Amino acid sequence: MITQTPTFKGWQLFSLLALLILVMSALAVALQPDLIEGLRSAVRATARSSFALFLAAFTASAFVVLVPSSFSKALVRERRFIGLAFAFSHFVHAVLIYAYGQLNTEFWPVRTVIDNTPGTVAYVFILLMALTSFKGPAHLLGAKAWKVLHTTGMWIIVAVFAYANFKRIPMNAWYVLPFGITCAAIAIRLVGKLAQANKRSQIRQPLS
Ligand code: HEM
Repeated sequence: MITQTPTFKGWQLFSLLALLILVMSALAVALQPDLIEGLRSAVRATARSSFALFLAAFTASAFVVLVPSSFSKALVRERRFIGLAFAFSHFVHAVLIYAYGQLNTEFWPVRTVIDNTPGTVAYVFILLMALTSFKGPAHLLGAKAWKVLHTTGMWIIVAVFAYANFKRIPMNAWYVLPFGITCAAIAIRLVGKLAQANKRSQIRQPLS
């Protein structure tokens, strides 16, 4: 079990993750002999970095209940910055898709509205969640609406990850792995919520 608390915190952690995402994207482009293929590879790489960061934020509160440790506690504490790093990674995903679409003129014409809808809806939620992770907009929204937005957004994003990986399984069987990880993360989150509710009801009704 990992017990060491991460040294990087807050904006420092965000900056480190953002820098790593930029370096990874630049390397993904540079390591391909062809620019279009390089951009496509960077699009895939940023989808994967977003996936890892999203999973950490999505399962943090469950892990702190199910396997409490200084690491899971730190994950919960830094969840806001991990979430913002996820939004940044997906912003880079969008910039790279734009650049890829500019150079590969066959990309957009073959995509249907149905192809673009799940990703676009997820992007709207990512933007709203990132904006409302700051005090001012969060205050304007109110605590109840904030919770509805962030809970709905989390489930929409996890569903888009599940769908994006699932639809690629016929092209490459390795996509079973991220699809399975997504299903496992959903199960961990749900079990964590149950355990949390159980704990709360035990505190309210202590055994005599
Ligand atoms: C309209 C918005 C979006 C567009 C146009 C788009 C486009 C793309 C493209 C072109 C690829 C690379 C495909 C390939 O080379 O096989 C890709 C990969 C991927 N995208 Fe996006 N994307 C969008 C939004 C999203 C969102 C919101 C998510 C997740 C929440 C997401 C998750 C993924 C995943 C999981 C992959 C596969 C990465 C891999 O190969 O491991 N995408 N996307």
